[in-house]
Amino acid sequence: MVCGRDVVIDYSEKVKALGVALFELLSQALGLNPNHLKELGCAEGLVLFGHYYPTCPEPELTMGTSQHTDSSFLTVLLQDQIGGLQVLHENQWVDVTPIHGALLISNDKFISANHRVLAKNVGPRISVACFFRQHLPPENSSRLYAPIKELLSEENPPVYRETTVKDFVAHYYSKGLNGISALEYLKI
Ligand code: OGA
Ligand code: NI
Repeated sequence: MVCGRDVVIDYSEKVKALGVALFELLSQALGLNPNHLKELGCAEGLVLFGHYYPTCPEPELTMGTSQHTDSSFLTVLLQDQIGGLQVLHENQWVDVTPIHGALLISNDKFISANHRVLAKNVGPRISVACFFRQHLPPENSSRLYAPIKELLSEENPPVYRETTVKDFVAHYYSKGLNGISALEYLKI
């Protein structure tokens, strides 16, 4: 029998490799060198959250997770067959139907999806969210987040001002999950 801890270690290593491959593709999609986002450290700082949503007798009165955008560069989500995850698309909540073997991926430059999880009267529901983010103080707290320099020009001026990881994380957690992007306060 494989120990649960070994499974988590093995799974995170695979997610990390997947993340590196995705950051290569995302760099290329931005017209940058394939290693660009990796070299900026986007693939570092992987954090794994296991979510447990108990069966809810009155799901219409509550939410599993209220609407939010993630604070990571990229999130890889494994969900079970219960369902309940929704993304906001053109002002409508759309179900992200579980597909066996599929992982869900979102990220920011390509628009961080506003999403939420409905409470359900079936369950429990279990999901595993792997965030690529660099929140861990103190070593990263003075690190700067800013628009990618190579993408800025006179026609594409920065939309956001730069911030330290420390300020960004403090803002993210103080505002709560209210559907307003944590990037709003950085708009120039
Ligand atoms: C999250 C999240 C969704 C889920 O952890 O940020 O949105 O399906 N999780 O549990
Ligand atoms: Ni999320």
